[in-house]
Order: sequence, then structure tokens, then C-alpha cells
Amino acid sequence: MTDAAMPEPLLRVESLTKSFGGFVALDNISVDIRKGERFGLIGPNGSGKTTLVNCISGALRPSRGRVSLAGEDLTPLPPNQRARRGIARSFQIPRPFRSMTVLENLMVALDFAAGRGVLESAAHRRDAAMSILTRIGLAPKAGALATALTQVDLRKMELARALAMGPKLLISDEAMAGLSHSEVDEVLDLLMSLGGEDIAIIMIEHIMQAVMRFSERVMCLDAGRIIAIGAPAEVMANARVQEAYLGV
Ligand SMILES: Nc1ncnc2c1ncn2[C@@H]1O[C@H](COP(=O)(O)OP(=O)(O)OP(=O)(O)O)[C@@H](O)[C@H]1O
Ligand SMILES: [Mg+2]
Repeated sequence: MTDAAMPEPLLRVESLTKSFGGFVALDNISVDIRKGERFGLIGPNGSGKTTLVNCISGALRPSRGRVSLAGEDLTPLPPNQRARRGIARSFQIPRPFRSMTVLENLMVALDFAAGRGVLESAAHRRDAAMSILTRIGLAPKAGALATALTQVDLRKMELARALAMGPKLLISDEAMAGLSHSEVDEVLDLLMSLGGEDIAIIMIEHIMQAVMRFSERVMCLDAGRIIAIGAPAEVMANARVQEAYLGV
């Protein structure tokens, strides 16, 4: 098989380095993520996980290296332009418009997406918003104010807002922190059903059982370097990964 017959990765991170002053937070990271892949990103506190996804979403500019999506170099682009090309971020702390209803929050996100000329009329946007809420299981709460939502429903709304962007890559940075065991399972099932479609997901999560269940591949960072990448069970069994977590 020739190289040309190999599918192009969705996301390509090449030789990415990020320094803060003299401190190297990411050191020469290269990784490819394929279309629809469920990708777990782990590593101890301060290992560079959030810095890496910030360089992918555009919140941070790398010191060196390149990020490309479906063959297009994103490195010079600001976050909003990357979002329009299909990189969506679900934040650690949900930041909804609190005085709006769930449906209105979705409509705002769709208005932004409409900049791409996808959705023209308000009625069309409303239908699109309802269909996303149905997919996420939030349709019964469409008319509720965001302030009235429980933590788990807020996380779901945040996912719904990310979906409104029509993402090819969804980044979830500790979207499950603070949830109960059964709520974690609920959000995980949702993420897994999305990943099974054509949305690739990078999930950063400290709950190892969740990462193991979710991921097709896991990558472990330690002090800004990749110390293991592969099948979840292999990565968890890796001696360097175990050392990094035990801190020995
Ligand atoms: N804006 C910044 N300025 C200076 N140092 C930073 C900045 N952002 C991150 N760092 C440092 O870079 C390192 C990696 O941080 P990062 O937030 O990426 O880690 P993380 O793996 O996401 O950790 P956690 O699991 O705690 O979220 C840390 O040592 C952190 O203090
Ligand atoms: Mg982090």
C-alpha cells in the first residue's frame, strides 16, 4: 500500500513545544488523531494536558511546532477561526448565559455557527437547537433557565453548545469533575455515542475507570513529554505511567 492510500489523520500535532518563560510545559509532542477517534489524555497534575489542548484549540500559541486539521495548517489561526473549522471545546467550568433558557443558550451557539452559512432562518435554528437537545437528552429542559439546571444538566448543556458548532473534534477537559458515579456514567455514555459518529473526542479525565471505558487510545504525558501511547490497558500497565502516578 502506498502512503497515498493511507487516510489522512483528522488532527495532526507535529513537534509541538510550549514554554512559559524558561519553563518547558510541552516538549516536542507529535501525535495524530483519526476521524471519530475516542482519545484519552492522561497524566499527573501539571503534566501539560490542558496546555496541549489549549495549543490545539488556539487559546495558546505554541513556541514551536504545528497543529493541522484535515491537512490545513491551523497554527496561525485564532480560536474562533479554529472553532469554525470544527474544533470545539467543552470547558472545565460550564459558562452558560445564566439568564437565558437552555434553548436560548443553544440558539446563541447556533447563531455563531451560522457565520458559516449553515443555518439561515430563526425557525431553522430553533429546530436545529431542539434536535441537538434531543440528542443530548435535554429536550425536556429546553424551556428551563440555565440557573435552574443541576450540575450534570449544565455539563450536558455545555456539550450541546459544543455540538452546535458542528465539530469534527471535541475537546473535553475534565467535564466530569465533581459529578457522582452515576452522573459520570451518564455523561460518558453521551460522549461515547458522539464519538461513535464522526466526531473525534479528546477526553482529559482524572477518573481512570472513565478513561479506560471511553478511550480507543490513551496517551499519558509526564512533565510535558509523551511517556506512553496505545491501547488503554497497555498504557495503564506501563511501568512509567504507574511511576508517574505514584510519584516515585
Ligand atoms: N499561563 C501559564 N504560565 C506559566 N506556567 C503555566 C501556564 N499554564 C500552565 N503552566 C504550567 O505548565 C505546566 C502544565 O500545566 P497544565 O495546566 O497543562 O497541566 P495539566 O496536565 O492540565 O494539569 P491538571 O491535571 O492539574 O489540570 C504546569 O507546571 C503549569 O504550572
Ligand atoms: Mg488541566
